[in-house]
Amino acid sequence: MKRIAILGGSFNPMHIGHAEMIEKAREILKPDELWLMPAKKPPHKPAYEYASNTDRVEMLKAYADDFSDVFVNETELTMEGFTYTANTMQLLKEGHPDTVFIFLIGADSFVNFHNWYKPDIIMQNAELGIFSRNETGTDELEILKEKLEKELGGVYHIIDYKPSDISSTMIRELVKEGKSIEGLVPDKVRTYIENNNIYKEDRRLAYEKEKLIAEMEKALKPSRFAHSLGVMKTAVELAEIYGADKEKAEIAGILHDCAKNLDADKLRNLCDQNNIEVLPEEREDDNIAEALLHSKVGALLAKNIYEIKDQEILDAIYYHTVGRPEMSLLEKIIYVADFIEPTRTQNCKPGLDVMRELAKTDIDKAVYYATKATVDYVSFKGRYVNPCSLNTLNYYSRYKGEI
Ligand SMILES: [Fe+2]
Ligand SMILES: [Fe+2]
Repeated sequence: MKRIAILGGSFNPMHIGHAEMIEKAREILKPDELWLMPAKKPPHKPAYEYASNTDRVEMLKAYADDFSDVFVNETELTMEGFTYTANTMQLLKEGHPDTVFIFLIGADSFVNFHNWYKPDIIMQNAELGIFSRNETGTDELEILKEKLEKELGGVYHIIDYKPSDISSTMIRELVKEGKSIEGLVPDKVRTYIENNNIYKEDRRLAYEKEKLIAEMEKALKPSRFAHSLGVMKTAVELAEIYGADKEKAEIAGILHDCAKNLDADKLRNLCDQNNIEVLPEEREDDNIAEALLHSKVGALLAKNIYEIKDQEILDAIYYHTVGRPEMSLLEKIIYVADFIEPTRTQNCKPGLDVMRELAKTDIDKAVYYATKATVDYVSFKGRYVNPCSLNTLNYYSRYKGEI
């Protein structure tokens, strides 16, 4: 009968410890083939922590390529719902009735084997290969083996070998910190991780972005959410033009109005609790409070609720309504993107189309004209003009000129 050893696991990623187990199992058990069987990616795990099914299969294949008897088996990736080893082994045995499967596990798993889901079914469909991989003595494993032989029947092979103490978590941490993983994972796996940016910080940011968009969709009214997406998109375009950090622009863009759903009382309360200045006009007039405090409170929520630690992003949110002299590039980008994003329809001088073109060629001039349009509009309506807006206007007036 054909004998196939199976090493299952998350392989997130596969490392040298796994390679040693594979080598040892081939040497001691002498199977005809050895199958690597990756487990399904849990749906709630983000990609920067848990590589996709495809990436983990590709990493295993890159390794298995060097051997004529090592293969990747994707059975568990195609099974519905939660996968139990008992079900997997039953399925494999049904498909290969003339094969003896040897399921490989570590000593720590073996100690708990009787608590696994239907261990008797596993033993009816496979033999067990046990690595004495932790501090559990071989004697203790022998006693347990005899006990299980009586209780469950089946065949148990104890492989007296302790693989190197390497964990996938450790590999992922090293990659995240930009450190070398040479010698800790097979070379081809390392190349795959490097070439495909697996476990890298930018994957984390991509995940954060998806999460923040979903949070904003829940928190904001549909029209405000559409506006926020517009600001995000426009901010990225401007970041591209002016060489700013596109990821920061995206995050600041999607979050800039994150406090816009709060009413005046709530905004004032949050300001008072967090030592944020509330001007007398913002204290007295709800409309003014809502128009002006949402940016300051937005920066507070971005930091405390949405866990944004980057001060540049927080400042861009804080100053997005009234600006300030000497704004950073990111602040200017969010300030202008808020004014010109595609869902905006308000009339302004010199007109939105002109402003949209101006933003692409001269961001400082765009800041000036956006501020001027806001101040003119508010004055025309006879409403309160925020002194910070006037400061911004005065400072950026040096950039006015022909348009
Ligand atoms: Fe806003
Ligand atoms: Fe906005």
